[in-house]
Amino acid sequence: MTHLFPCILFVLMCGTSYAAFTVTCPLNYSPITVGSCVRYNQILCNTANEYDVSTGIFTVQTNGTYSISVSMMSGMLTSHLTLRKLGISSTYMVWLYTGTNYNMASQTINCELVVGDTMCVYAQSGSSLFSVYNTFTAVRIS
Ligand SMILES: *[C@@H]1O[C@H](CO)[C@@H](O)[C@H](O)[C@H]1NC(C)=O
Repeated sequence: MTHLFPCILFVLMCGTSYAAFTVTCPLNYSPITVGSCVRYNQILCNTANEYDVSTGIFTVQTNGTYSISVSMMSGMLTSHLTLRKLGISSTYMVWLYTGTNYNMASQTINCELVVGDTMCVYAQSGSSLFSVYNTFTAVRIS
């Protein structure tokens, strides 16, 4: 029962005609490398294969407005993440931070993206993320 509600949400999100992906971390600690994209390896949906599990990078395949969210928990260790637009002028869009007491942080942005734009969740500090509380998700909304 506890898993039913998230599943319904993901089905609703992934059942639209617009491209969407949602990825998370597995149970327990997942190592991250400062200075690189977080590689979420649990794929809940990836309708247009816009998320590359080997790099952690989201590559836009259709011009439009996207809603992009990141939730994080680093557990017993502090960590900073940024949602970052990659490319020639790599841009930090928003920052997230969690401390040492299993607290969580979350950010959502809505922005215009064009074909070929690339984004990822970038590790700014820390060494790991804790478990399935970590999510990276995007959906084209128009
Ligand atoms: C997507 O947007 C770019 C930049 O504005 C534009 O050059 C391109 O023609 C657009 N592609 C489509 C399929 O609308």
